[in-house]
Amino acid sequence: MDYKTHRSIRAYTEAPVSQEVLDTLLTAGIRASNTGNIQSYSVIVTQEEEMKARLAPLHFNQPMVKGAPVLLTFCVDYNRLSAWSEARGTACGHLNLMGFYNASLDAMLFAQNVAVAAEDAGLGYCFLGTVLYNLESIIHELALPRGVIPILTMSLGYPAETPSLRPRLSLEGIVHYERYSPFTPAQIEALYAPLENDPFYLERVRTSGCTNLAQLIMEKEYPAANYMHLSQEIMRILQLQGFEEKYLKRQNPSSVEA
Ligand SMILES: Cc1cc2nc3c(=O)[nH]c(=O)nc-3n(C[C@H](O)[C@H](O)[C@H](O)COP(=O)(O)O)c2cc1C
Repeated sequence: MDYKTHRSIRAYTEAPVSQEVLDTLLTAGIRASNTGNIQSYSVIVTQEEEMKARLAPLHFNQPMVKGAPVLLTFCVDYNRLSAWSEARGTACGHLNLMGFYNASLDAMLFAQNVAVAAEDAGLGYCFLGTVLYNLESIIHELALPRGVIPILTMSLGYPAETPSLRPRLSLEGIVHYERYSPFTPAQIEALYAPLENDPFYLERVRTSGCTNLAQLIMEKEYPAANYMHLSQEIMRILQLQGFEEKYLKRQNPSSVEA
């Protein structure tokens, strides 16, 4: 497969994704490396129109939610692990920030393996980060129990579009050998020029009323106020789903209990 041709697909044909294909993709996901092979994740498959209709507004009515044959919601899952541990007479001590961090990494690797396998099988996908914006309602709709928190949704199906490739930063902008070397202002200019001059982003900046791409991203699309609000919301949801408050909120390391 050619990794250089990836593009997110947001429009799908009506062709269904067979159970066999879905199982192949999800099996590829499960083969991903994960912390200690603990597999503290799970995935909710949404295929019923009624469920898609319930989820759509929670994803701000992004058309992929109703338009894709399959939605996958990848979750951190300590419910199953807790049940197993308790059945074996031991406690699961992972419902804290470290556990959430590890399980999120693993769930994302799981999701990315599914994504790569999907493209390999001729399907297209788009991740939906909007799952983080309405966590409580999505948890309710998907009936997620204690210890389970959605972190990423993916729409999946056969592509009905071939969008142009979105530009990326060059290797020089991403890769540091041996030690991190901060960028000079001139290097920053050169690194971001291909993105700033890409027709897709030029058009987005033009129609947004912003003066440049950085402003569009930081002030309109992903503003600090949203991030602050969602940070607090994620903390609240972690507690709601059984993650221990004292291990999430502690600010002062000197107060750590023995
Ligand atoms: C964590 C994550 C969340 C994303 N959320 C959305 C989303 O809610 N809606 C959307 O249209 N695209 C979403 N995307 C897709 C990105 O916009 C896309 O990957 C990026 O613009 C690069 O485009 P490409 O994937 O076509 O190369 C998301 C991607 C990631 C990795």
